[in-house]
Amino acid sequence: MARQAISSRGIQAELKQGSYLEPLPFVGKPFDIVCATGTVHHCADPILAMTLLREQMTDDGYFLFHVYGYYRDKIRFCIKEILDLLEPDRSNHLHRLELYQGLMQARALGTTKKRDFLWHLTHTSISDAIKMLKKSLGKFSGQEVRIAPWGPSWGWIDGPESEHWHPWVDQFCHPCERDYEVWDIKDLVEKSGLKVAHMLSQGMPTERTTIPGQWGAQYDNLDDWSKWRIQELMEYPHGDAFNMILVKA
Ligand SMILES: C[S@@+](CC[C@H](N)C(=O)[O-])C[C@H]1O[C@@H](n2cnc3c(N)ncnc32)[C@H](O)[C@@H]1O
Repeated sequence: MARQAISSRGIQAELKQGSYLEPLPFVGKPFDIVCATGTVHHCADPILAMTLLREQMTDDGYFLFHVYGYYRDKIRFCIKEILDLLEPDRSNHLHRLELYQGLMQARALGTTKKRDFLWHLTHTSISDAIKMLKKSLGKFSGQEVRIAPWGPSWGWIDGPESEHWHPWVDQFCHPCERDYEVWDIKDLVEKSGLKVAHMLSQGMPTERTTIPGQWGAQYDNLDDWSKWRIQELMEYPHGDAFNMILVKA
């Protein structure tokens, strides 16, 4: 794909293939920009990978970095763990697909026993009934809080012929991947001798992360990592990936 992309754009580039964890095939001048997007979270040793990549940077170089965010990918990892418990062999793609399809079908149909009106009347407290009423009124007025969907956006997959097959295998059968919260990212970045120049995505304010004015100096005096963590917690159950520009510490 890379070869195709560079030739169709008339770009001059030299392609080399290998793992971050093996000696990198570059000799001579270090690079102004190192880009590792969506790759470090697949390495058996992410800190070693980052440390070896850092060695390829000029002292004022930039490291463009992307890894999965725990809250953004939580549902996918929940489904993946369910599949792991039922079929631990991640290379058994077809069997895992059958289990996944069953799960999606059950979720779509709903597996809980339907209760009749009388049951609800005798089992619902007045405060719960008020909450339910408020929730359904909210739905009508379009104020319902959007909750993260259970299924991934590509929905139903028939099998290996589906256009979604390869992405599905990648997302639900990948043998080595992890997702990160702010404190894990701090650990990874600092242990690799790097620091954050710009925190994008997960670090960008959203409508859910308005900081209350009354927090005042107590919030203002926190370090960046604590502020990013508060933002991450305020976003729940939403979340984003980590897209960052790193520099040498
Ligand atoms: C989710 S894809 C990301 C692809 C692309 N960088 C992007 O941003 O769309 C994960 C990539 O990680 C790469 N990868 C996995 N383990 C690696 C390792 N040890 N060293 C280097 N790359 C690795 C795989 O080759 C795969 O292409």
